[in-house]
Amino acid sequence: MSKSYWIETWGCQMNEHDSEKMAGTLEGLGYAPADSSLDADVVLLNTCAIREKAEDRVYQALGELAAVKKRRPEMIIGVCGCVAQMSGESIRQRAPMVDLVMGPRASIKLPDLLARLQDERGIVDTTLYQESILAGTETVRRMPGRVKAFVTIMEGCNKTCTYCIVPTTRGREDSRTLSILLDEVRRLAAEGYREVEFLGQNVNAWRCPETKAGLGDLLRAASRVEGIARIRFTTSHPLHLSDAIITAMATTPEVCRYMHLPVQSGSDRVLNAMRRGYDRSKFLNRVAKLRHEMPDIVLSTDVIVGFPGETDAEFEETISLVKQVEFENIFSFLYSARPGTMASMMPDSVPADRKTERLMELQSLQREIQLRRHVAMVGSRHPVLVEGKSRRDAAEWAGRTTSNKVVNFAGESIGVGDIVEVRIIAGGPNSLRGEMIEGPSSASPAA
Ligand code: 5AD
Ligand code: SF4
Repeated sequence: MSKSYWIETWGCQMNEHDSEKMAGTLEGLGYAPADSSLDADVVLLNTCAIREKAEDRVYQALGELAAVKKRRPEMIIGVCGCVAQMSGESIRQRAPMVDLVMGPRASIKLPDLLARLQDERGIVDTTLYQESILAGTETVRRMPGRVKAFVTIMEGCNKTCTYCIVPTTRGREDSRTLSILLDEVRRLAAEGYREVEFLGQNVNAWRCPETKAGLGDLLRAASRVEGIARIRFTTSHPLHLSDAIITAMATTPEVCRYMHLPVQSGSDRVLNAMRRGYDRSKFLNRVAKLRHEMPDIVLSTDVIVGFPGETDAEFEETISLVKQVEFENIFSFLYSARPGTMASMMPDSVPADRKTERLMELQSLQREIQLRRHVAMVGSRHPVLVEGKSRRDAAEWAGRTTSNKVVNFAGESIGVGDIVEVRIIAGGPNSLRGEMIEGPSSASPAA
């Protein structure tokens, strides 16, 4: 009987995709997916370290697995991803039943590490292998039934944002070559995928190590691959978002009119303390340029509330920026001190409940903005890529506009992967309802 595996994933799309790569590697070694962590031979926890809460979840999951491990000591428990990189050996001090600790850029060694686990326990590999960006890309085991496929274009981050653990967990930037990426996009198109999303911690800094092509060139080249209807990329950095990238986006219809552009704060003092490398006015300049070139572009952002020493007045500057830009969506977080970061050593006298109040204020403002913008969309028409059945009502379909909005609508004779024309008939705070007014332009659901 073949051995089985179970992977639990937390964190960003990059982590999600790393799990797909590890699953592919394991299947290549003859492992089959298990039904749950309870009966798997190998359990990998692919972890996120971005905030303390994400880290806590890992130890909670390990606590639950401890009982299973007691019953089946031969089961292999591995901690991978960013917590593995951040905490290394000390994970085993807190949770001694962990057999393997493997950083995100060590997953290229997964087959060797599993072989060593035959007669060794407690292996820790947190080497930042440079070739890790190639790990598992030939054998990805993609989530079934999806229309969108992730493609890692670069790994690591050379920035020094004072709050962030990611440069520690993912190492320095390394880019994959243009030709390797285009091969991958062609393969995905041949498999039936209609949309690709390019991933990296700072995709605007992608540069082909051979040809020196930049992200704009990659977007143009990928758009010429037959079958790919939509291209997205994340995450962008306001400092690296060049005019060349914006122009490439604007002149390439396959590139979705959507950008996630984390601002983090509206206050120059806080942005400077975060070492973001731009100020409010530079950020607003990028937004203006994007909207000038693409009037229909939709923007989302990340905001950190309660950075050390953030005053009420500085928080109000974030509120005023949010009002000014009117993002379509905001991912807002309470600041969380991460081990070894510069910000974790900064004095902070702002009480926790004041920070929570700020977060609530921001989120309620954003809900209003979103609802208003969604209601204003009623009557407009959009091409929608069908992703599957609606979560609310199985008789309806759910799909996305190129601006990344979820639209639920009724429709006959359509399937996953179709692009249909939908008119918006109602807008709620988080999604839209529509009616189909034109059937599929072409159908090719992913495997
Ligand atoms: N505390 C809170 N939020 C953080 N982020 C990154 N580091 C921290 C931290 N220490 C947020 C940022 C980033 C998003 C992925 O997570 O907003 O853009
Ligand atoms: Fe979490 Fe950042 Fe690691 Fe992604 S890269 S898993 S967001 S810590």
